[in-house]
Amino acid sequence: MKITVIGAGNVGATTALRIADQELANEIILLDILEGIPQGKGLDIWQSGPVQLYDTKVKGTNTYDDTVNSDIIIMTAGLARKPGMSRDDLRDANTEIVKDAISKAAPKSPNAILIVVSNPLDVMTYVALKVSKFPTNRVFGMAGILDTARYKMFISEALGISVRDIHGMVLGGHGDTMVPLPRFTSVGGIPLEHLMSKEQIDAIVKRTQNGGAEIVAYLKTGSAYYAPAAATVEMVAAIVKDRKRLLPVCAWLNGEYGYKDVYMGVPCILGKDGVEKVLEFPLNEEEKQLFATSVKHVQTEIAKVTGI
Ligand code: NAI
Ligand code: 2OP
Repeated sequence: MKITVIGAGNVGATTALRIADQELANEIILLDILEGIPQGKGLDIWQSGPVQLYDTKVKGTNTYDDTVNSDIIIMTAGLARKPGMSRDDLRDANTEIVKDAISKAAPKSPNAILIVVSNPLDVMTYVALKVSKFPTNRVFGMAGILDTARYKMFISEALGISVRDIHGMVLGGHGDTMVPLPRFTSVGGIPLEHLMSKEQIDAIVKRTQNGGAEIVAYLKTGSAYYAPAAATVEMVAAIVKDRKRLLPVCAWLNGEYGYKDVYMGVPCILGKDGVEKVLEFPLNEEEKQLFATSVKHVQTEIAKVTGI
Protein backbone atom coordinates (compact mmCIF):
# COMPACT_ATOMS: atom_id res chain seq x y z
CA MET A 1 0.00 0.00 0.00
CA LYS A 2 1.44 3.30 -1.17
CA ILE A 3 -0.32 6.48 -0.09
CA THR A 4 0.43 9.95 -1.39
CA VAL A 5 -0.57 12.96 0.67
CA ILE A 6 -0.54 16.17 -1.38
CA GLY A 7 0.03 19.17 0.88
CA ALA A 8 2.45 18.93 3.79
CA GLY A 9 0.69 21.60 5.83
CA ASN A 10 -1.31 21.10 8.99
CA VAL A 11 -3.86 18.63 7.65
CA GLY A 12 -1.46 16.81 5.30
CA ALA A 13 1.34 16.25 7.80
CA THR A 14 -1.05 15.22 10.56
CA THR A 15 -2.78 12.81 8.18
CA ALA A 16 0.56 11.27 7.20
CA LEU A 17 1.48 10.88 10.87
CA ARG A 18 -1.80 9.15 11.73
CA ILE A 19 -1.53 6.81 8.74
CA ALA A 20 1.97 5.84 9.83
CA ASP A 21 0.91 5.47 13.47
CA GLN A 22 -1.72 2.95 12.39
CA GLU A 23 0.68 1.35 9.86
CA LEU A 24 -1.96 1.60 7.14
CA ALA A 25 0.69 1.87 4.40
CA ASN A 26 4.14 0.54 3.59
CA GLU A 27 5.08 3.84 2.06
CA ILE A 28 3.79 7.40 2.40
CA ILE A 29 4.78 10.14 -0.04
CA LEU A 30 4.29 13.63 1.40
CA LEU A 31 4.31 16.20 -1.39
CA ASP A 32 4.26 19.99 -1.28
CA ILE A 33 5.42 22.88 -3.45
CA LEU A 34 7.45 24.25 -0.56
CA GLU A 35 11.03 23.02 -0.78
CA GLY A 36 12.34 21.31 2.34
CA ILE A 37 9.09 21.29 4.32
CA PRO A 38 7.77 17.92 3.10
CA GLN A 39 11.28 16.42 3.21
CA GLY A 40 11.81 17.57 6.80
CA LYS A 41 8.36 16.59 8.06
CA GLY A 42 8.54 13.27 6.20
CA LEU A 43 11.85 12.34 7.77
CA ASP A 44 10.63 13.44 11.19
CA ILE A 45 7.52 11.23 10.91
CA TRP A 46 9.61 8.29 9.62
CA GLN A 47 11.93 8.69 12.62
CA SER A 48 8.95 8.22 14.96
CA GLY A 49 8.71 4.64 13.67
CA PRO A 50 11.26 3.07 16.03
CA VAL A 51 9.42 4.61 18.99
CA GLN A 52 5.86 4.06 17.84
CA LEU A 53 6.80 0.72 16.29
CA TYR A 54 5.82 1.10 12.67
CA ASP A 55 7.82 0.25 9.55
CA THR A 56 6.00 2.70 7.29
CA LYS A 57 8.51 4.67 5.20
CA VAL A 58 7.72 8.35 4.81
CA LYS A 59 9.30 10.35 2.02
CA GLY A 60 8.85 14.07 1.54
CA THR A 61 9.13 15.42 -2.00
CA ASN A 62 8.41 18.21 -4.45
CA THR A 63 8.10 15.94 -7.49
CA TYR A 64 5.18 13.86 -8.70
CA ASP A 65 7.61 11.23 -10.03
CA ASP A 66 7.79 9.92 -6.46
CA THR A 67 4.03 9.40 -6.37
CA VAL A 68 3.93 6.83 -9.20
CA ASN A 69 1.49 3.95 -8.66
CA SER A 70 -0.02 5.22 -5.44
CA ASP A 71 -3.03 3.24 -4.24
CA ILE A 72 -4.57 6.24 -2.48
CA ILE A 73 -4.00 9.95 -3.06
CA ILE A 74 -5.16 12.38 -0.39
CA MET A 75 -5.55 15.95 -1.59
CA THR A 76 -5.01 18.40 1.27
CA ALA A 77 -3.15 21.19 -0.54
CA GLY A 78 -4.78 24.58 -0.62
CA LEU A 79 -5.41 27.74 1.29
CA ALA A 80 -7.11 27.44 4.66
CA ARG A 81 -9.56 30.09 5.79
CA LYS A 82 -8.86 32.90 8.23
CA PRO A 83 -11.35 34.54 10.61
CA GLY A 84 -14.24 36.15 8.73
CA MET A 85 -13.79 33.97 5.63
CA SER A 86 -16.23 31.32 4.50
CA ARG A 87 -15.02 28.10 2.88
CA ASP A 88 -16.46 29.40 -0.40
CA ASP A 89 -14.05 32.36 -0.29
CA LEU A 90 -11.28 29.84 -1.03
CA ARG A 91 -12.95 28.58 -4.21
CA ASP A 92 -10.99 30.28 -7.00
CA ALA A 93 -7.52 30.00 -5.45
CA ASN A 94 -7.99 26.39 -4.43
CA THR A 95 -9.48 25.44 -7.81
CA GLU A 96 -6.15 26.40 -9.37
CA ILE A 97 -4.24 24.39 -6.74
CA VAL A 98 -6.45 21.29 -7.13
CA LYS A 99 -6.18 21.53 -10.93
CA ASP A 100 -2.40 21.80 -10.74
CA ALA A 101 -1.96 18.92 -8.29
CA ILE A 102 -4.50 16.47 -9.68
CA SER A 103 -3.47 17.00 -13.31
CA LYS A 104 0.05 15.93 -12.28
CA ALA A 105 -0.84 13.19 -9.81
CA ALA A 106 -3.67 11.35 -11.57
CA PRO A 107 -1.80 10.22 -14.73
CA LYS A 108 0.98 8.76 -12.56
CA SER A 109 -1.44 6.68 -10.48
CA PRO A 110 -4.32 5.83 -12.85
CA ASN A 111 -5.84 3.25 -10.49
CA ALA A 112 -5.67 5.32 -7.33
CA ILE A 113 -8.52 6.24 -5.03
CA LEU A 114 -8.65 10.00 -4.59
CA ILE A 115 -9.79 11.49 -1.27
CA VAL A 116 -10.25 15.26 -1.37
CA VAL A 117 -9.95 17.40 1.76
CA SER A 118 -9.22 20.86 0.28
CA ASN A 119 -12.02 23.43 0.70
CA PRO A 120 -14.64 24.30 -0.34
CA LEU A 121 -14.85 20.54 -0.10
CA ASP A 122 -17.82 19.62 -2.27
CA VAL A 123 -16.66 21.92 -5.08
CA MET A 124 -13.00 20.83 -4.92
CA THR A 125 -14.08 17.18 -5.08
CA TYR A 126 -15.95 18.04 -8.29
CA VAL A 127 -12.82 19.74 -9.69
CA ALA A 128 -10.74 16.67 -8.80
CA LEU A 129 -13.25 14.39 -10.57
CA LYS A 130 -13.22 16.45 -13.76
CA VAL A 131 -9.43 16.85 -13.84
CA SER A 132 -8.58 13.23 -12.94
CA LYS A 133 -11.29 11.71 -15.18
CA PHE A 134 -11.37 8.82 -12.68
CA PRO A 135 -14.64 6.94 -12.14
CA THR A 136 -16.87 8.48 -9.48
CA ASN A 137 -16.47 5.60 -6.99
CA ARG A 138 -12.77 6.51 -6.80
CA VAL A 139 -13.14 10.28 -6.25
CA PHE A 140 -14.81 11.48 -3.07
CA GLY A 141 -14.36 13.93 -0.25
CA MET A 142 -13.94 14.00 3.51
CA ALA A 143 -16.21 16.25 5.56
CA GLY A 144 -19.15 14.32 6.98
CA ILE A 145 -17.00 12.27 9.34
CA LEU A 146 -15.52 15.48 10.74
CA ASP A 147 -18.88 17.24 11.04
CA THR A 148 -20.34 14.11 12.66
CA ALA A 149 -17.40 13.87 15.07
CA ARG A 150 -18.01 17.43 16.23
CA TYR A 151 -21.74 16.75 16.63
CA LYS A 152 -21.06 13.60 18.67
CA MET A 153 -18.49 15.34 20.85
CA PHE A 154 -20.94 18.12 21.70
CA ILE A 155 -23.66 15.57 22.59
CA SER A 156 -21.19 13.59 24.68
CA GLU A 157 -20.14 16.75 26.52
CA ALA A 158 -23.75 17.81 27.19
CA LEU A 159 -24.88 14.39 28.48
CA GLY A 160 -21.67 13.33 30.20
CA ILE A 161 -21.78 10.04 28.25
CA SER A 162 -18.86 8.51 26.35
CA VAL A 163 -18.45 9.42 22.68
CA ARG A 164 -18.39 5.65 22.09
CA ASP A 165 -22.13 5.47 22.80
CA ILE A 166 -23.23 8.37 20.60
CA HIS A 167 -24.43 7.29 17.13
CA GLY A 168 -25.55 9.56 14.34
CA MET A 169 -24.63 11.22 11.09
CA VAL A 170 -24.31 14.67 9.60
CA LEU A 171 -25.17 14.78 5.89
CA GLY A 172 -25.22 17.50 3.21
CA GLY A 173 -22.50 19.84 2.02
CA HIS A 174 -19.54 20.89 4.16
CA GLY A 175 -20.70 24.37 5.09
CA ASP A 176 -23.42 26.31 6.84
CA THR A 177 -26.04 24.20 5.03
CA MET A 178 -24.83 20.85 6.42
CA VAL A 179 -27.65 18.61 7.66
CA PRO A 180 -27.28 17.07 11.14
CA LEU A 181 -29.99 14.45 11.69
CA PRO A 182 -31.19 14.41 15.34
CA ARG A 183 -34.07 12.08 14.37
CA PHE A 184 -31.48 9.41 13.52
CA THR A 185 -29.20 10.08 16.48
CA SER A 186 -29.14 7.69 19.41
CA VAL A 187 -27.25 7.28 22.65
CA GLY A 188 -26.71 3.61 23.41
CA GLY A 189 -29.75 2.91 21.22
CA ILE A 190 -31.98 5.48 22.99
CA PRO A 191 -33.25 8.19 20.59
CA LEU A 192 -31.58 11.53 21.36
CA GLU A 193 -34.98 13.23 21.60
CA HIS A 194 -35.67 11.21 24.79
CA LEU A 195 -32.55 12.54 26.48
CA MET A 196 -32.40 16.20 25.48
CA SER A 197 -34.83 19.06 24.97
CA LYS A 198 -35.45 20.45 21.50
CA GLU A 199 -33.66 23.66 22.55
CA GLN A 200 -30.56 21.74 23.63
CA ILE A 201 -30.53 19.75 20.38
CA ASP A 202 -31.00 22.90 18.29
CA ALA A 203 -28.05 24.54 20.06
CA ILE A 204 -25.84 21.53 19.33
CA VAL A 205 -26.91 21.47 15.67
CA LYS A 206 -26.02 25.15 15.39
CA ARG A 207 -22.65 24.69 17.08
CA THR A 208 -21.91 21.76 14.75
CA GLN A 209 -22.71 23.87 11.68
CA ASN A 210 -20.34 26.51 13.05
CA GLY A 211 -17.76 23.96 14.22
CA GLY A 212 -15.04 24.86 11.71
CA ALA A 213 -15.46 28.62 12.24
CA GLU A 214 -15.30 28.19 16.03
CA ILE A 215 -11.78 26.77 15.67
CA VAL A 216 -10.71 29.33 13.04
CA ALA A 217 -11.74 32.07 15.48
CA TYR A 218 -9.37 30.62 18.09
CA LEU A 219 -6.44 29.80 15.79
CA LYS A 220 -6.71 32.98 13.71
CA THR A 221 -3.95 31.84 11.32
CA GLY A 222 -5.69 28.79 9.86
CA SER A 223 -8.27 26.10 10.45
CA ALA A 224 -8.69 22.81 12.29
CA TYR A 225 -6.45 19.86 11.51
CA TYR A 226 -6.33 17.22 14.25
CA ALA A 227 -9.95 16.09 13.89
CA PRO A 228 -9.89 16.58 10.08
CA ALA A 229 -6.83 14.33 9.84
CA ALA A 230 -8.41 11.72 12.14
CA ALA A 231 -11.55 11.75 9.99
CA THR A 232 -9.54 11.37 6.78
CA VAL A 233 -7.62 8.44 8.19
CA GLU A 234 -10.86 6.70 9.20
CA MET A 235 -11.70 6.69 5.48
CA VAL A 236 -8.22 5.43 4.60
CA ALA A 237 -8.54 2.57 7.10
CA ALA A 238 -11.95 1.60 5.70
CA ILE A 239 -10.42 1.36 2.21
CA VAL A 240 -7.13 -0.31 3.14
CA LYS A 241 -8.84 -2.91 5.33
CA ASP A 242 -11.88 -3.23 3.04
CA ARG A 243 -14.07 -2.69 6.09
CA LYS A 244 -17.36 -1.87 4.30
CA ARG A 245 -17.89 0.94 6.80
CA LEU A 246 -21.08 2.97 6.64
CA LEU A 247 -19.76 6.53 6.78
CA PRO A 248 -20.91 9.96 5.67
CA VAL A 249 -18.89 10.70 2.52
CA CYS A 250 -18.96 13.54 0.01
CA ALA A 251 -20.00 11.31 -2.90
CA TRP A 252 -21.21 11.79 -6.46
CA LEU A 253 -24.98 11.47 -6.73
CA ASN A 254 -26.45 9.70 -9.72
CA GLY A 255 -30.14 9.89 -8.87
CA GLU A 256 -29.81 9.02 -5.19
CA TYR A 257 -31.98 11.20 -2.94
CA GLY A 258 -33.44 12.63 -6.17
CA TYR A 259 -30.29 14.41 -7.36
CA LYS A 260 -27.76 13.88 -10.15
CA ASP A 261 -24.36 15.25 -11.11
CA VAL A 262 -23.52 16.84 -7.80
CA TYR A 263 -21.30 15.97 -4.82
CA MET A 264 -23.10 15.74 -1.49
CA GLY A 265 -22.50 14.29 1.94
CA VAL A 266 -24.47 11.04 2.05
CA PRO A 267 -24.13 7.69 3.85
CA CYS A 268 -21.84 5.42 1.83
CA ILE A 269 -20.37 1.95 2.11
CA LEU A 270 -16.61 2.48 1.98
CA GLY A 271 -14.32 -0.41 1.10
CA LYS A 272 -11.43 -1.40 -1.16
CA ASP A 273 -13.18 -0.03 -4.27
CA GLY A 274 -13.85 3.34 -2.66
CA VAL A 275 -17.52 4.33 -2.53
CA GLU A 276 -19.08 0.92 -3.12
CA LYS A 277 -22.67 2.08 -2.54
CA VAL A 278 -24.61 5.20 -1.63
CA LEU A 279 -27.11 4.10 0.99
CA GLU A 280 -30.55 5.70 0.64
CA PHE A 281 -33.06 6.02 3.44
CA PRO A 282 -36.25 8.06 3.75
CA LEU A 283 -35.96 11.64 4.99
CA ASN A 284 -38.99 13.52 6.33
CA GLU A 285 -40.19 16.76 4.73
CA GLU A 286 -38.08 19.02 6.96
CA GLU A 287 -34.90 16.96 6.37
CA LYS A 288 -35.59 16.86 2.62
CA GLN A 289 -35.90 20.64 2.61
CA LEU A 290 -32.57 21.09 4.42
CA PHE A 291 -30.90 18.60 2.07
CA ALA A 292 -32.35 20.42 -0.96
CA THR A 293 -31.00 23.76 0.30
CA SER A 294 -27.57 22.19 0.73
CA VAL A 295 -27.62 20.66 -2.78
CA LYS A 296 -28.69 23.99 -4.27
CA HIS A 297 -25.83 25.77 -2.53
CA VAL A 298 -23.23 23.29 -3.81
CA GLN A 299 -24.70 23.37 -7.34
CA THR A 300 -24.48 27.18 -7.33
CA GLU A 301 -20.84 27.09 -6.22
CA ILE A 302 -19.92 24.39 -8.75
CA ALA A 303 -21.44 26.54 -11.50
CA LYS A 304 -18.97 29.31 -10.61
CA VAL A 305 -15.95 27.08 -11.33
CA THR A 306 -14.38 27.87 -14.67
CA GLY A 307 -11.61 26.41 -16.79
CA ILE A 308 -11.88 22.72 -16.04
P1 NAI B 1 -1.96 24.59 5.41
O1 NAI B 1 -1.81 25.99 4.93
O2 NAI B 1 -1.40 24.21 6.71
O3 NAI B 1 -1.34 23.60 4.30
C1 NAI B 1 -1.61 23.69 2.94
C2 NAI B 1 -0.38 23.23 2.19
O4 NAI B 1 -0.69 23.17 0.80
C3 NAI B 1 0.82 24.17 2.34
O5 NAI B 1 1.93 23.48 2.87
C4 NAI B 1 1.08 24.65 0.92
O6 NAI B 1 2.45 24.87 0.63
C5 NAI B 1 0.52 23.49 0.11
N1 NAI B 1 0.25 23.84 -1.29
C6 NAI B 1 -0.27 24.98 -1.80
N2 NAI B 1 -0.35 24.89 -3.13
C7 NAI B 1 0.12 23.67 -3.49
C8 NAI B 1 0.27 23.01 -4.72
N3 NAI B 1 -0.07 23.58 -5.89
N4 NAI B 1 0.79 21.76 -4.71
C9 NAI B 1 1.15 21.17 -3.55
N5 NAI B 1 1.01 21.75 -2.33
C10 NAI B 1 0.52 23.00 -2.32
O7 NAI B 1 -3.53 24.28 5.36
P2 NAI B 1 -4.29 23.08 6.10
O8 NAI B 1 -4.73 23.52 7.43
O9 NAI B 1 -3.46 21.85 5.97
O10 NAI B 1 -5.59 22.94 5.18
C11 NAI B 1 -5.49 22.45 3.87
C12 NAI B 1 -6.84 22.51 3.15
O11 NAI B 1 -7.75 21.60 3.76
C13 NAI B 1 -7.53 23.88 3.20
O12 NAI B 1 -8.16 24.15 1.96
C14 NAI B 1 -8.58 23.70 4.28
O13 NAI B 1 -9.67 24.59 4.15
C15 NAI B 1 -8.98 22.27 4.04
N6 NAI B 1 -9.64 21.60 5.16
C16 NAI B 1 -10.75 20.85 4.87
C17 NAI B 1 -11.38 20.13 5.85
C18 NAI B 1 -12.55 19.28 5.52
O14 NAI B 1 -13.31 18.92 6.41
N7 NAI B 1 -12.75 18.91 4.27
C19 NAI B 1 -10.93 20.20 7.25
C20 NAI B 1 -9.73 20.96 7.44
C21 NAI B 1 -9.12 21.66 6.41
C1 2OP C 1 -13.30 22.66 9.15
O1 2OP C 1 -14.52 22.39 9.16
C2 2OP C 1 -11.69 23.95 7.82
O2 2OP C 1 -13.48 22.85 6.78
C3 2OP C 1 -12.62 22.82 7.84
O3 2OP C 1 -12.64 22.76 10.19
